[in-house]
Parts: sequence; structure tokens; C-alpha cells
Amino acid sequence: MKVNKNSKNQQLEQFREEGKDQYMTTDQGVRVNHTDDSLKAGSRGPLLMEDFHFREKMTHFDHESIPERVVHARGSGAHGYFQPYNDTLKEFTKAKFLTDPNTQTPVFVRFSTVVGSRGSADTVRDVRGFATKFYTEEGNYDLVGNNMPPFFIQDANKFADLVHAIKPDPDNEMPQASAAHDTFWDFASLMPETMHMIMWVLSDRAIPRSFRMMDGFGVHTFRLINEEGKARFVKFHWRSKLGAHSLVWDEAQKLAGKDPDWLRRDLWEAIDMGDHPEFELNVQIVEEEDEFKFDFDLLDATKIIPEELVPLRPVGKMVLNRNPDNFFAETEQVAFHPGNLVPGIDVTNDPLLQGRLFSYVDTQLNRFNSANFAEVPINRPLASTHNHQGAGFMRHTINKGKANYWPNSIGGGCPMMAPEKMGGYVHHMEKVDGHKIRARSESFNDHYSQATLFWNSMTEPEKKHIVKAAHFELGKVMSKEIRQRMLGHFNIISPDLAQRVSEGIGVEVPKDFKPTSTGHYEDNEASKQMKK
Ligand code: HEM
Repeated sequence: MKVNKNSKNQQLEQFREEGKDQYMTTDQGVRVNHTDDSLKAGSRGPLLMEDFHFREKMTHFDHESIPERVVHARGSGAHGYFQPYNDTLKEFTKAKFLTDPNTQTPVFVRFSTVVGSRGSADTVRDVRGFATKFYTEEGNYDLVGNNMPPFFIQDANKFADLVHAIKPDPDNEMPQASAAHDTFWDFASLMPETMHMIMWVLSDRAIPRSFRMMDGFGVHTFRLINEEGKARFVKFHWRSKLGAHSLVWDEAQKLAGKDPDWLRRDLWEAIDMGDHPEFELNVQIVEEEDEFKFDFDLLDATKIIPEELVPLRPVGKMVLNRNPDNFFAETEQVAFHPGNLVPGIDVTNDPLLQGRLFSYVDTQLNRFNSANFAEVPINRPLASTHNHQGAGFMRHTINKGKANYWPNSIGGGCPMMAPEKMGGYVHHMEKVDGHKIRARSESFNDHYSQATLFWNSMTEPEKKHIVKAAHFELGKVMSKEIRQRMLGHFNIISPDLAQRVSEGIGVEVPKDFKPTSTGHYEDNEASKQMKK
């Protein structure tokens, strides 16, 4: 099956409806002659239940909302394509869409904020989601990333706590548009592993000028697998061709009031005017034998691989060239999953990534109330699908034949061969062996070095912005204890940072600060036992 940049548009064509110059009909295709009044018993009388047009219109409206995403609820989508520059990645991966310069793979991208609800403002201080669905010849591949390369936490078991702390308060649902509240800073100050990400969130990266002017990061270490089955570690990076640009905080706040659709409008209008956003995909590749040569763990999502240690390799270009036709059908119903993989790409044991592999389908079953959401037009792969999953709410595909099980000898099945013969997905055969324990590796223990690296890499104006952001955020924290704990962390990151933040929030840098954490490894019984 050959895909080109228009393949997804052609596939979507059959689902598009052109209402212009058409008679209005009911969902059953019956022409409607009057839609302004319901059917009544007399012009001032009660409505009649037999009014099928009213009942259908009202019922459909009553059911038009679905649960918003539990995080990343507010987003904006765009169609486009991805094309590799050359075949140099062939040495590292068998994924054709990354290695064949003649293949233009259709993509759908959804940019998002994380914390706010669907109707919240675009320009708040927050991480931005950068999720890409590649409709490849070998099935859908999703790169579900953010605009910042580290993450807040190391283990998926802390995700619910993180999100509860960062979302509006459970009693009064305030504040809606900022991390500036006690619960988030309480959590952060008790979780030293958040410190590297905190530095990014206080930086200008958290208030991008435009979705077109943001970089994207896969965050986790993934794997590339080549034709011979050799695996290497990989980090994915999107680089905006326009460069990464930010608002300043004052602009961001004013825009949140004057034009809460700022980022959404900017993306839509640029594409509409033919000013198509472009992003370059880059990879950092690490040989398996070099897994332990760094002073951080490749499986720790709170760390980056500094580019001085492993340079970026350009792979290809993504162009976003078409706005969606329908927000709900496309941007709202698109369902990404970091476990949607194609041959040539695999996951690692990063404990945050491993938890994500469970979470996305689970939440999408809640969002769509059906196991058939992969059949929704925006989620349908271009590669054809054949299996025995034929039932469930809102099944679209009409499977033929009697046999919906395997093996069968009476037809209606899908032949399976040895995977290598049919190009099937083969999971990387990593040897895994270990005791069942609730613990983290000691190699995850350093929470400050990269936060310091980040602070030291900033120019003076960027440092000023970080300090001002901390003044704003921590200045709104009622608890003095929490403010002081944060200063304690900042002091470990950089005494200069701590001093400058302290001057704006009315508390002294604590003298004998000791970070505490729920995940303190040296105190963890399981870790102690493992060491024995
Ligand atoms: C969306 C869970 C970490 C990027 C979501 C959603 C959930 C979720 C439940 C809503 C999905 C939907 O309704 O379709 C988690 C969990 C995490 C985690 C459990 C950690 C254990 C991350 C990280 C990144 C990320 C590290 C970035 C690398 C995104 C993006 C979306 C998203 C971009 C929005 C996708 C869209 O536009 O539809 N996440 N997430 N998440 N997540 Fe995560």
C-alpha cells in the first residue's frame, strides 16, 4: 500500500458532507419542510410526541458533548505530511516513513495546553502538548510529545497526584488559568524530582508566542530497531523552522483576557493564508552498549540527553498545510497513544512511559464510550485492518463471514504467517529479569544537576523572566512553609536563583533545608532489601 501526502485527505473525502444546495433532511434522509416550529395541538397547544423531527433534533443536541480529555483538554489540530530528507536513518530503523525520501506520510497534529479545561485561555503558563499521528503504510504511529524535553515525575504512579495538584482546587475549582496555587507548589516542593521541569515551566518556554514557534519532544527514550533486529536508544525532537519564540508574561496575561483563542487563531490563520508551519524531526541516537555511560539514567523522563553529549541528527520535515473541516470530528475525536507503534520503533522500560501505555486507551474508552474509536475517520489508519474484533458500540465495519475467531477452518479469517514473512510487528526481545518491588533505581536519584544546567544555560534576560515568573507564582502561595521549601530547592539549584526569588516573595532562603520526598529511595524498604 503506497501512501502519499494526500492519501488521508482522500480517505476522509468519503466521510465529508457538503450541505450547500441540499434539501434539509432528518437523519433518516426524509426531507424536512419546516424547522422553525415544533408540531403542536393547535398554535398555542402542547407539543406532540409524534414530531419525529423535533425529537431527533433535540435528542441529538442533548447528546452532543463527550467528556473532555482529563488532561490536554484544550487543543488545536492541523493536517499535513512528513517526508524524510534522505535514507540515512536506514542503518538504525526499518520504519519506512522515516527512511524513504520518496514517501510523504500524511499526519494529523494536535497542539494543546495541559491543565485548562476545553474553554480555557490559550496563553496561560503551562506545558504545551505536541501530538502527531503518522498515517504510515505500516499502520498508525503516534509521537505524543510536549514542547519541553523533561517531565515532572519519574513514575506513572505519581501522575494522578501531579494532575490533581495542578488542576483547579477540588472544593471551589479555582484557579483555572495558572499553576499559581498552593496545591501545585505544595506537591512540587515535596517532590524534588519535579525540579528540572519546574525550571522549564518557569521559563519563557511555558508561554509560547505561537504553536508554529514551538519545538516538540518525545520526552522518553524510545528504541529504533533496524532490519537486522539491532536496537538503539532514541530521543525524538521536533524543531520549529520558525524557531522557538515566546510571549512575555504581561502580554500572555493580557491576551488571556482579550483573545483567549490567540494560539488557536494564529495557527488557523497562518494555514488559511498558505503560511504553512514546518517542523524538522531530529533524533539523538545512543548505542545499547552506551546505556550506562551517562551520569543520569536514560529511562528517567525527568532528564534530557544534553546535545553536547549526543548531537541531533536531522531526519525530515513536517509541513502542516490544511485546517480541519470540523473541530469535533477531527480535533476532538482524534485519539493518540504513545503505544501506537510501527515496525522499527519500540518502547523502553521508562516507568513513566510504561504507565502511559496503559492510560491512554483506558481514558479513551471513557471519552468515547466505545471500543470502536479507532474506526472514527480521523483515527482510521490508511493501512487496511483485519482482525476478529467485530462488535461493540457503534461498530462501523461490516465484517463478513461466520468465523470471528482464530484459528478457524471455515473462512472469514485473516491468514497469519511467521511475522518475519509478513512484516509483522516484532517486539524487541529485551531480556527482562527482576524481583517484583515497588522501588526506583538509585540511578534516578539526582534531581538537581540538570535543573542547574538549565539555569546556567540561560541568558540574563531569560534568568530575569524565570525569577519574575517565580515571584508571580510563589507570591500567590498562601503557605509560607511551601514558599520556603521551594526556596530550599532553588538554593540547591543555584544560590543566585534562590536569593533573587526570595527578594520578591517575602521569605528568607532556609539555612538547613533538606529535601523530603514520598519517593525517597534511601528510605525505601524495598531498596534496602535489594541492596543486601
Ligand atoms: C493526553 C495520561 C505523561 C503528552 C493525555 C491523556 C491522558 C494522559 C489520560 C488524555 C488522552 C485522551 O483523552 O485522548 C498521561 C499519563 C502520563 C502522561 C498517565 C504519565 C504517566 C505525558 C508525557 C507527555 C504527554 C510525559 C509528553 C511526552 C500528552 C499529550 C496529550 C496527552 C500531548 C494530548 C494528546 C491529544 O492532543 O489528544 N495524557 N500522560 N503525557 N498527553 Fe499524557
